[in-house]
Amino acid sequence: MSSIELDHVSKLYASGAYGVRDVDLTIGDGEFVIFLGPSGCGKSTTLRMIAGLESITSGDLRIGGRSVTHVAPRERNIAVVFQSYALYPHMSVRENMGFGLKMRGVARGVIDGKIREAASLLGLTPYLDRRPAALSGGQRQRVALGRAIVRDPVAFLLDEPLSNLDAQLRAEMRLELVKLHRRLGRTIVHVTHDQVEAMTMGDRICIMREGRMIQVGKPLEVYADPVDTFVARFLATPPMNLVPARLEGRDDGLVVRAPGLDVAVPERHRDAYAPAAGREVIFGLRPEDLHEAPAPGLQKVEVTVVALEALGVENILIGQLAGAGAIRPVEIAARLSRHYTAPVGATVPLYLDARPMHLFDPETTRALPRPRLGVLQP
Ligand SMILES: Nc1ncnc2c1ncn2[C@@H]1O[C@H](COP(=O)(O)OP(=O)(O)OP(=O)(O)O)[C@@H](O)[C@H]1O
Ligand SMILES: [Mg+2]
Repeated sequence: MSSIELDHVSKLYASGAYGVRDVDLTIGDGEFVIFLGPSGCGKSTTLRMIAGLESITSGDLRIGGRSVTHVAPRERNIAVVFQSYALYPHMSVRENMGFGLKMRGVARGVIDGKIREAASLLGLTPYLDRRPAALSGGQRQRVALGRAIVRDPVAFLLDEPLSNLDAQLRAEMRLELVKLHRRLGRTIVHVTHDQVEAMTMGDRICIMREGRMIQVGKPLEVYADPVDTFVARFLATPPMNLVPARLEGRDDGLVVRAPGLDVAVPERHRDAYAPAAGREVIFGLRPEDLHEAPAPGLQKVEVTVVALEALGVENILIGQLAGAGAIRPVEIAARLSRHYTAPVGATVPLYLDARPMHLFDPETTRALPRPRLGVLQP
């Protein structure tokens, strides 16, 4: 049993600044959880508190049901892998991996067996006698992981372990970590800045901001139903389009109005949004919900092309809403097919699917409640 429970955990630094505020989270035994958030939001502090490398100011931490708030790091049996691999340069891969066990007085034969096993799991067998300097970044990262694996910890805490790697290696290591998790079945908490890692690796993502955990859920659920404009913008590139607008009631339903934008609220959301009629709102729609061709159920909107970014697999159109008289024209992004073309400066029609739309409160930035879309849509 190695569930990790953070029970209203806070970290107040001596400087008077909060590193982490009132985090309440239970990580299941064997779960793969991602911490995602901007720099300084408290990801590493949370990890360090779980590992025992940082004291907890208030709240309780339980591992496997036992309070470990005042238990020394080495007795928690949790392995941390940092971004900087922190390998000993003068030791071989084998010695690096076995060092911790040797210090604990584990028998030589046992250590050798564990190293062999971990090296084979990580594809490091051919490199066991090399020094770290003679390894690539990805190989060094695997050694750091191997060193954690031989300890046979109850959980792995990975603090941006892939951020020093180039894009291709990162993608490979991402997959390796997921496979490793499947094979070992251990609890993993993985800290990242990377949206792709966040979306693809974990069972759940925990989005942090300013020391707080503001949304926790399955990746696609958080993607489909962000709790506020911060999560809406943070989770994807290009981020969700947000347009300051007004919600108006009409005889036949509700419309979202902004300069250059007039969107009928789909029937499925009418009841939920009706109480906000007459109010200022922020209209949110993901770039992939804007299309280049008309189709039943889609609503037309005109934009002036600001840029067209050809990414190979798709074209991202950045367009200004063509609202006459807007003081600050709003730009929106649309993910279109790779065959789409339009000259910069042209006014072109786009066709939006309002079914996955969101409305946010401009004051609190919170999403206005409506039935969750969840993963399956439309
Ligand atoms: N020893 C410390 N003393 C005072 N404040 C600290 C200390 N360590 C961290 N902080 C502050 O706590 C907050 C959270 O820091 P933390 O390192 O957990 O952020 P992070 O989410 O890991 O950021 P990054 O993505 O940059 O690694 C930051 O505002 C940071 O400045
Ligand atoms: Mg950090």
